[in-house]
Amino acid sequence: MSGFWSGWVVVLAVVTIGVSLFLFAWGLRVHIPVQDDGTTGHNWDGIREGLHKLPWWWVAVSIGAFAWAIGYLVLYPGLGNFAGVLGWSSPEQHQRDTAANTAKRASQNNPWRAMTIAQLAKDRNAIDVGGRLFQDNCAACHGKGARGNPHVGAPDLTDAVWQFGGSEDAILASILDGRSAVMPPWGQALQKDGVEEVASYLQSLSGNASRDWQVKAGHERYDMFCVSCHGPGGVGRATIAPSLADQTWLYGNDWSDITTSIRDGRTGVMPAWRTRLGVDQSRLVAAWVVAQAAHGRPAGK
Ligand code: HEC
Ligand code: HEC
Repeated sequence: MSGFWSGWVVVLAVVTIGVSLFLFAWGLRVHIPVQDDGTTGHNWDGIREGLHKLPWWWVAVSIGAFAWAIGYLVLYPGLGNFAGVLGWSSPEQHQRDTAANTAKRASQNNPWRAMTIAQLAKDRNAIDVGGRLFQDNCAACHGKGARGNPHVGAPDLTDAVWQFGGSEDAILASILDGRSAVMPPWGQALQKDGVEEVASYLQSLSGNASRDWQVKAGHERYDMFCVSCHGPGGVGRATIAPSLADQTWLYGNDWSDITTSIRDGRTGVMPAWRTRLGVDQSRLVAAWVVAQAAHGRPAGK
């Protein structure tokens, strides 16, 4: 908050509380003349205005409220930029609670720690927790059922295709430290024709209908510009670049998806979870992923 607005808040708060407090104290002591019949003497169409003292509990509650408000503003943040004499802040409180929670979890004898990910993948309770963690942290990109999302290039995690390895350890490594992919943009170097030629070549590789007349030129360009990462014949290279010759596409296999990938490049980023989830929870998510993938996954790949 800037100095001006901080001052504004301070003035408003102090004036409001001060004026109310003054009216309250004044109201308790002010002398209102009473008639012999115990009324103020005001008569409204035959209805006489009585005069009663405020009930003691009302006065007590009000004094309490004033004391609480003033005490709070002195001790805690509330008056503009004034931090309060206790120096309390919500982020620090949050940090303390989180640290206490983490310490508590770490000190608990956690039976899951002694199990391998393959074992966890067969443990109903572990999978339940892992699945919930996946929905909270991963589903936004990979989809609820982990089937992937072509808009962010998040791969299907239930199929047999793994860019960074489908072993328990490789999956855990992907989760803990993240992955990033760099596919450079080729629009400048290849121009529109070149992009279309090479796209036609790719479509011929994956068995999609392609523009036959462009395939040969596309193949030549591919061998010049793309083969170093995507491998001969588009078979892909583990951890470097995905296969372009199969039916699995990160960003979709329409003509426009493919030409966009080539023209503008793609840079899919899988965030690292080591600090956010920690190792124990990452192992549980990995176990859930392994359990989903179990059907299609060739052992040890
Ligand atoms: C911000 C979007 C995003 C989030 C959130 C995200 N991922 Fe990813 N993930 C990706 C992208 C994009 C890739 C592909 C990275 C690449 O190709 O470099 C990927 C790749 C992976 C891989 C490697 C797949 C392979 O083929 O080898 C695994 C495993 C994975 N993610 C699991 C998870 C898990 C588990 C979580 C939650 C803890 C998660 N991801 C959260 C975007 C995300
Ligand atoms: C420096 C290495 C590199 C080079 C060179 C390269 N690519 Fe890529 N390419 C990648 C990576 C890595 C990805 C995955 C991007 C991601 O996950 O976000 C990719 C993704 C793609 C995709 C999207 C695949 C999908 O599954 O949706 C297409 C299409 C593609 N590349 C075509 C080409 C073509 C054509 C060329 C040559 C003109 C080429 N690439 C050159 C690294 C490269």
